[in-house]
Order: sequence, then structure tokens, then C-alpha cells
Amino acid sequence: MKILVLNGPNLGILGRREPEVYGTTTLADIEAVLGPVAAELGLELEWIQSNHEGDLIEALQDGAAGAAGALLNAGALTHYGLALADAVRAFPHPVVEVHLSNVHARERWRRRSVLAGACAGGVYGFGADSYRLALLALARILEVDRR
Ligand code: DQA
Repeated sequence: MKILVLNGPNLGILGRREPEVYGTTTLADIEAVLGPVAAELGLELEWIQSNHEGDLIEALQDGAAGAAGALLNAGALTHYGLALADAVRAFPHPVVEVHLSNVHARERWRRRSVLAGACAGGVYGFGADSYRLALLALARILEVDRR
């Protein structure tokens, strides 16, 4: 079973991007941690990072047939990406929203997610661990976890 892990604008520079907010862990580090967790669940992860909303939309459209679900950290698109939100609604599998930071404890504009209503649920505020927790939640939804 394949799971898309979609990462939006500025997440490609994780590790050197505002480390006081996002830490020093890179996206490659997170990928390395999640690989074995996914394997244990019988899941294969496909990682995509793009600074362009259209690429994320196309990844969802192209993945509709082959993927069983998705984790989505859309970066700032979370707060205004209406076309991406529509693509999540059109994606016929569960999507879990992910954020490294606690978006509710930051600037006011980060509190609004246009994606949240289109997602099965969300995990935010646990740094890199948000991805792992979101994957476990998705596995639970897909009933591939055996615990
Ligand atoms: C983020 C939170 C967003 O508000 C921000 O624009 C990001 C990262 C997070 O993972 O905490 O790019 O999605």
C-alpha cells in the first residue's frame, strides 16, 4: 500500500529554515525515521516536496489510483490554498494534515487551515514527530495497524 507524503513551500529547506521554530531536522532526516515505521505497517511512502501548489495538486490527482492515503504538510498553503483544498476533497482516500509547529500558538493567520475540513484529521506541534504520529493515525484509519 502506497502513501503519499506531500510537503509544500519552504519545507525543502527544513533544518536551516528558522531552526528556533522548526528545529534542525531536515526532511531527509524525517524520511529516514519514517521509512522503517511505514515498513513495519506494510506501507510504502512516496515523498514529494514542492514550492508550487500545482505540483501538490498534480501529485494528489496522479496518486488517486495508486495511493491509499496521504500525509500533507502544505506549509503556508495550508492557510490560503483553496485549489489544494479542492484537490484534497477530490482525492478518494484519507489525508492527514501535518504541521511541525503548533500553528495555534503562533501568528493569528496560521490558526486558519483551509485544508482541515477536507482532511480526516490533523497532527500539529510535535516537531518531526508530527509526521510519525500522523502516519500512525493514517494506518489506524486504513486498518493496517495490528495493535
Ligand atoms: C508549517 C506551518 C505553516 O504555518 C508554515 O507556513 C510552514 C510550516 C509547519 O509545519 O509547522 O511552512 O506547515
